[in-house]
Amino acid sequence: MMAKLGILILLGLFLRVTVCSVSSTTQCEMDEFKHENLCCQYCPAGFKLINPCQKNHGTSECAPCESNYFTAHKNSESGCFPCSMCRDDQEEVTKCSSTTDRECQCKQGTYCNSENCLEMCHACSSCPGGRVIRKCNATMDTVCDTFDSKQAENSVVCYFTEDCSASAWKLNIVVIAAVIIIIAAVITVIRKIICYCRKRDRRALNSVNGTVSGKRIMTAVNTFQGAPACSRG
Ligand SMILES: *[C@@H]1O[C@H](CO)[C@@H](O)[C@H](O)[C@H]1NC(C)=O
Repeated sequence: MMAKLGILILLGLFLRVTVCSVSSTTQCEMDEFKHENLCCQYCPAGFKLINPCQKNHGTSECAPCESNYFTAHKNSESGCFPCSMCRDDQEEVTKCSSTTDRECQCKQGTYCNSENCLEMCHACSSCPGGRVIRKCNATMDTVCDTFDSKQAENSVVCYFTEDCSASAWKLNIVVIAAVIIIIAAVITVIRKIICYCRKRDRRALNSVNGTVSGKRIMTAVNTFQGAPACSRG
């Protein structure tokens, strides 16, 4: 009986010790990783792991990344990651360092809108006869205002703006020509009316020619020439 109780107590103690020792090693701190039964501190960004720590919560042996290799975060990696390379159609926007990967983007005038730009960069679209809503950048193509470009083609206002289409310019020329023709027609009509008035006045003068003396006729002609053509009835 006593022996059985003793065994149970021993078993209980053993279990308690085992559970406590396991839990103390499984619960590592935020900046630690588990190595065998130990919690070891991670290597900082820009370093790689050479040897894990020898005692619990100890520092690990780390080495800095080689040139053109990086680790962006604290880690327990045995090797740093190679920096990405920019393709011929890309340009470097962020340099490769021991803590940052090289970042590349499509060159000016080209874009690539896929996740990691695995395909080639595409040439940016232009907006023929339309207005650019958003300029092309490395990740997004040009956005054109197609509705406004349609309107602009039929609008006289367009002729005084830069983004006029060719058809709009043709329309502009037609409008200017029409205005010139209308002005010319109006001038011709006015001249015809003046001419008619002068002829009528001259006829009126001639009719009084016989009854009035030469001096008075000359005075009448002079006043006629100086005065506006149709001022008197
Ligand atoms: C391109 O433009 C879009 C929209 O304006 C923007 O979200 C994106 O960050 C830009 N990309 C670059 C590389 O500037």
